[in-house]
Amino acid sequence: MRHTHAFGAGALIAALSAGLVVWLVPLRRVPRERRLAEPQHLPTAAREVLSHRMERHGRSMDDLVRGVVLLDDQDVEEAADRILAEPTLARPLTGDATDLNSLLPARFFVLQDELRAQAKSLKAAAASHDPTHTADAFGQLSRACVSCHQLYLTNGK
Ligand code: HEC
Repeated sequence: MRHTHAFGAGALIAALSAGLVVWLVPLRRVPRERRLAEPQHLPTAAREVLSHRMERHGRSMDDLVRGVVLLDDQDVEEAADRILAEPTLARPLTGDATDLNSLLPARFFVLQDELRAQAKSLKAAAASHDPTHTADAFGQLSRACVSCHQLYLTNGK
């Protein structure tokens, strides 16, 4: 009786651990890397410089989304600050075609400014502790993200 009981427990543990393995395996899948598609109109060297400059670029989005939907104004303010602290590309001065910045359409720089302006508005909205206002400001900010990515991929065509 005792023996049967011990066997039963062992079998149960084995079944549970098998279940756990099956359950855990899909979670351990390496996440797919999410990147913006590569535009065809820019030379590889220019894309590499840009990609390097944009490295930190997307990291604040997760913090922003969580901060906005969980009504954590401090998280939102900090994420907005990180966007504001990112280096920006200078508008081309020379028009020299070998200069990366002059390969980008003029609107790229407008949207770069727009992103900063929206990050400031979002920060102010979070500071006012009005979740609806913050959600709207977040929507406006994400428009700036999407507009620039669209422009980057299509070169404005
Ligand atoms: C002024 C233009 C511009 C704006 C505004 C912009 N992006 Fe980007 N973003 C780029 C470019 C250009 C790339 C592609 C860089 C490359 O080729 O690797 C990029 C790439 C990305 C990537 C891919 C991975 C990475 O980090 O390079 C993410 C994620 C991203 N942006 C998030 C955002 C978010 C979130 C916002 C708004 C809060 C935003 N971007 C606003 C130009 C912009």
